[in-house]
Order: sequence, then C-alpha cells, then structure tokens
Amino acid sequence: MTKAKRQMEEDIKLIDLVIELLDARIPYASRNPDIDKLAANKARLVLLNKADMADPEKSKEWMQFFEQKGIPVCVLDSRNKKDMKQITQVVQQACAAKFERDRKRGIKNRPVRAMVAGIPNVGKSTFINTYAGKAAAKTGNKPGVTKGKQWIRLSSTVELLDTPGILWPKFEDQRVGLHLALTGAIRDEILNTEELAMELIHLLEKDYPEMLKGFYQWDEVPYEKYPEKPEAAILEAIALVRGCLAKGGEIDFLKAANLLLENFRNGKIGRITLERPDSEEA
Ligand code: G4P
Repeated sequence: MTKAKRQMEEDIKLIDLVIELLDARIPYASRNPDIDKLAANKARLVLLNKADMADPEKSKEWMQFFEQKGIPVCVLDSRNKKDMKQITQVVQQACAAKFERDRKRGIKNRPVRAMVAGIPNVGKSTFINTYAGKAAAKTGNKPGVTKGKQWIRLSSTVELLDTPGILWPKFEDQRVGLHLALTGAIRDEILNTEELAMELIHLLEKDYPEMLKGFYQWDEVPYEKYPEKPEAAILEAIALVRGCLAKGGEIDFLKAANLLLENFRNGKIGRITLERPDSEEA
C-alpha cells in the first residue's frame, strides 16, 4: 500500500465528510476507484472543479449522474471566492443524516469534520485556500504551531482538515491515462507530444466539430497530404497558421503540438469536456 493511501486511511477515521474533488472536464478519469471503499460510511460530496473550462451542458449531465447516485454535487471554479457560497449549503445537505443522528442523541452544535480528497492537480490546495480564505492563512502563518493535523474552522458547523487526501488515478485504463495526460494531470509516458496532440484533435473533431477551426482560423487543411491521418493534416494547418516552423522553413510539429495542448489545458480553445456519463461505467 502506498504511503498516500495509508495516510488517507488514517485521516478518514477523523472525519464525517469526504469532499471529493473531480476535474469537471474528465469526471470519470479523475475519479479514484478506491474512494468508495475508503469513504464507506462517511457522508460524501462531489465537487466538479475547473468547471470554468468544462462544457456546461455536459457538466449538467454529470451533476444528474451523481444526484441519481444520491451524492450531493456542485460545479465550481475553485479560484473564485463567489463560487464558495454554494458549498456551505451543499455541505449541510451532505451531512443532513449526521445532524439528525446528533440531534437524536442530544448532541448539539458539534461541527462536521471534513476532508478534501482528489488526484494530484485537481485543485485541492486552491479549493482549500479559497474556501477557507483568511482562516487557512492564519493557521499556516502561526509561528510555533506544531506541524500535524490542523483543523480550519470554516463556520460554526464545519471544520476542514488542512491537508488534503491525495488519491491516485487508475492508470491501468488506457483511455483514462489519455484523458489525464491531455488535461495535464499526469505526464504521459506512452504517447509522445505529437501523438497526444493528434489524439486531442481526434476527440475534438468528433465531439466539437468546428471548434478548432473557429479558434485557429485556418484557411485550409492539407488532407490530401495525409490520406490516412486527418489529424496530422490539422496539426500542420495549426502549425502554418501559428508560424510553428523550424529554421529551414519546414513544419515544426512538436511546437504546434505543444501549442495546441497548452491552449487546450488553459481553456483557451473553448469549454470542453472529454467524457459523458452515459459512455463511462463510473
Ligand atoms: P492540487 O492541490 O490538487 O494538486 O492542485 P492545485 O490546487 O495545486 O491546482 C492545480 C492547478 O489547477 C493550479 O494551476 C490551479 O490554479 C488550477 N486550478 C485549480 N482549481 C481551478 C479551477 O477551478 N479552474 C481553473 N481554471 N484552474 C484551477 P497551476 O497552473 O498549476 O498554478 P497557477 O498558475 O494557478 O499558480
């Protein structure tokens, strides 16, 4: 068992609620398969983060998917303070059963203890910092405070563990690996940059036709040069329109591939979601 998983198992004993952060562009690939077991008997909440870069229509479908499973869910941009207002409400919803249990036992005002969990890069630290705001900063800056578990008091009803739980994605599934590599969540070891870019072109042309053309504004695509690989023709069109050329004037595919991936990862090309609930067995 990895150290991160052991740590998660220890931390989870201390809490009532698991706030699971997923990447709204790839909710399936950014989900950890172990979470259901790890968080059994805990209240659960799913946050579809980076929703500012995701396709709003598909985010709606994903929200329905989690709601149908009985898991309270929100979409958000963790960098945006305004998006935090909805969290308190959904936390209450997720913990309704716990509050009810406490009330029956005569326990009043015991705050919910929560932890944030998710795969690397999904936005855990950003979320904690924005959600906790000044409270988080205060805990971190206090000199002499022993390192270890710190609880950030968010309101009279919620306390948050300051260190997020790190979960690992399911690398074995090739398509999951591809989606994680495309969003930049992991470094892809199997595909090189040009192949990765061409996979992205393939997915976008299928699900979002016209989006690439709209963004890069190319005049034409030299499909006849690549009869077997239309994606290569599109990459060439991107290279030409963006001046990705090597010294001798030949096409610099690597540069074009890096540019395309960067534009996608920064949400510049448009709001894109690579997965839909009906095609995933999440
Ligand atoms: P982690 O703790 O889960 O590993 O993730 P972290 O908060 O470090 O966030 C990873 C990257 O994702 C950061 O960008 C962060 O700004 C960005 N991010 C987090 N939440 C959101 C969101 O809701 N929307 C968008 N668009 N981006 C988000 P970075 O490039 O690594 O750092 P920086 O340039 O922001 O400093």
